[in-house]
Amino acid sequence: MSDPVPVITIDGPSGSGKGTVSSRVAEALGGWHFLDSGALYRLTGLAVEKAGIGFEDPQKAAEIAANLDVRFEQGKVLLGGEDVTLAIRTEQAGNRASKVAAMPEVRAALLDWQRQAVRPPGLVADGRDMGTTVFPDAPLKVFLTASAEERAKRRYKQLKEKGIASNIGELAEEIRQRDERDRNRSASPLVPAADALVIDSTGMTIEAVVEKILQAAHKVLPAG
Ligand code: DC
Repeated sequence: MSDPVPVITIDGPSGSGKGTVSSRVAEALGGWHFLDSGALYRLTGLAVEKAGIGFEDPQKAAEIAANLDVRFEQGKVLLGGEDVTLAIRTEQAGNRASKVAAMPEVRAALLDWQRQAVRPPGLVADGRDMGTTVFPDAPLKVFLTASAEERAKRRYKQLKEKGIASNIGELAEEIRQRDERDRNRSASPLVPAADALVIDSTGMTIEAVVEKILQAAHKVLPAG
């Protein structure tokens, strides 16, 4: 019997650096696949908005999530053929995502999407509940965090680099509210898995965080 395809889960709150760290870990492991599960929630939020059904109907939102017409092509994200790469990265898109993410029906509808991303040689999955719910058998689970101030600063810089104007104070407040909603929701709340390696990246460089995860990976992954 062949070994299962290995999965490394990297969960944590927004602005903790998960996205950058996850894609670098995937690359350093020799071209592993990378799942940005937050993008699926952002896409669902946008699709719900476009459908004009409001955010009060979990059943309809779940139908939309299950039937997302998404393509990831050459660094671009297409929803129903439309380029939404930037549209899903705004703070507004993050807030919509957080709303649909609180619906158990939507979370269930996105499970298959996420599990289908497991392909050889391995997958690094970035999100909130990758280690607790989506891939509970992953051999390495990381929970990455950082202080709220540091996360607001990082978010500000990221948005600026993408040409999106923002305000640090407002960002910090939005991050705090979103964290609270993500932590306190009943469906897959944002908590570290019991067996997660918790890394507080406040004051750490991206390289140092990546190195720490790679060291842990080499201890648990089969050699070769
Ligand atoms: O990581 P992100 O900022 O792109 O996530 C957007 C929203 O989706 C955020 O409010 C948390 C939610 N989310 C989630 O509930 N579960 C995931 N696996 C990924 C994201």
